[in-house]
Amino acid sequence: MKHIVIITGASSGIGREFARQMDQGFSSIDEFWLVARRQERLEEIKRAMRHRVRILAFDLSEMDSLARFWELLNEEKPVVRMLINCAGYGMIGDFERIPVVPQTGQLDVNCRALTWLTHACLPYMQKNSRILQMASSAAFLPQPGFAVYAASKAYVLSFSRALAQELSSKKIYVTAVCPGPVSTAFFDVAEQYGKMMSVKKYTMVSAKRVVREALCASFRRKRMVICGFPMRAFYFATRVLPQGPMIFAAGQWKGRSQNEESKD
Ligand SMILES: NC(=O)c1ccc[n+]([C@@H]2O[C@H](COP(=O)([O-])OP(=O)(O)OC[C@H]3O[C@@H](n4cnc5c(N)ncnc54)[C@H](OP(=O)(O)O)[C@@H]3O)[C@@H](O)[C@H]2O)c1
Repeated sequence: MKHIVIITGASSGIGREFARQMDQGFSSIDEFWLVARRQERLEEIKRAMRHRVRILAFDLSEMDSLARFWELLNEEKPVVRMLINCAGYGMIGDFERIPVVPQTGQLDVNCRALTWLTHACLPYMQKNSRILQMASSAAFLPQPGFAVYAASKAYVLSFSRALAQELSSKKIYVTAVCPGPVSTAFFDVAEQYGKMMSVKKYTMVSAKRVVREALCASFRRKRMVICGFPMRAFYFATRVLPQGPMIFAAGQWKGRSQNEESKD
C-alpha cells in the first residue's frame, strides 16, 4: 500500500516550504500529494522534488473539489502518514468594508475544507500518522480589523486540540501550528482592503523557521506550537489578562495604524 503525505496550500509560502523541507528526508514516503489552485506553481515545485508527486489543482472553497478529493482517496486507498492543512487566507480591514464573498470564503477554505479533508483522511490513517493544522496566533484573541480571519483560526485551534484528545487512543497525533506574522505572499491577498498593524512587522518570522518548528513539534507529539517569543508572550497575556481591555487596545492600535497609513 502506498504511503503518502498530503500538503494543502503547497503552491506558496508555508505549504511550499513544508514540501521542500520534507522532501529532504522522509524516505519511507512513496508519494506527496500537493494541493492548491495554481497548477503551474505546483508543477514547478514537483520538478524540484526528489519524491514522486501527485498534483491536485483543486479550489478548496468548492464542494466539488472536496468531493473529488474524497473519491480519489477511496480509489487509491493509500496510507496517509501525514496531512498538512496549510491552505488558507485572511482579509485585513473592517468587517463591513470587505465584500461578503471574500469574507465567507475564509470560512470555506480555512475551516470547512480543513475539517472536510481531516475527516476524509482519517480512515486512511494509522498508528503514528500525523495531522498538522495551520492555525495562527490570531486565534488567541478576537481581532478588530481582522475579525473573520481571527475567528476562523480560533476554530482551527479549538478543533485541533479537541481532535488531538479524541485521536490520542489511536496514537494519531494532531498539532495546531500558531505562528504570528510570517513573511510570505499571504499579505498580498490580506492587504487588499486594509493594512497590517505596523507593530506586527517587528515580529515577522520566516516560513523556514515555522516549518522547522512545526515538524519538530509534530514528532514530539505536541498538540500546539507557537512560533517565536513575542507570540508566546502574547499567548500568555491572553491567558492571564482580561480579554475585554485587550480587544479594546487592539482596536485602538488598529485605528492608529490606519491613521499613520493615511498620512503617508
Ligand atoms: N503568513 C502569515 O503571516 C501567517 C501567519 C499565521 C498563519 N498563517 C496561515 O498559514 C497558511 C499558509 O499561509 P502562507 O503564509 O503560506 O500564505 P500564502 O503564501 O498566500 O499561501 C496560501 C496557500 O493557500 C492556498 N489557497 C488559498 N486559497 C485556496 C483555495 N481556495 N483552494 C486551494 N488552495 C488555496 C494558496 O494556493 P493557490 O493560490 O495556488 O490556490 C497557497 O498555496 C494559511 O492557512 C494562513 O492562514 C499565515
